[in-house]
Amino acid sequence: MQLAIQENIRGIEAECGGACACATCHVYIDDAYLHLLTPPAQDEEEMLEGVAAERRDGSRLACQVIVSDALDGMVVEVPDRQF
Ligand code: FES
Repeated sequence: MQLAIQENIRGIEAECGGACACATCHVYIDDAYLHLLTPPAQDEEEMLEGVAAERRDGSRLACQVIVSDALDGMVVEVPDRQF
């Protein structure tokens, strides 16, 4: 989420600033990389239930994704809406 904001990626609103309290940083993670991420914590799961766009298997809140070298090349899709 921080990288998306820094790089002016459209569609990542991040209204709560990364506090896992708004779900406006919803993204779709490429299936090939999902297993490399820490599974969503309960608070993220709860927020994902209220995302504005379709929830998919690869749905995550970008603010909860910790970037590492292992994720090099990961494709992240931005939903068509966050509200
Ligand atoms: S920035 Fe608000 S939930 Fe991610």
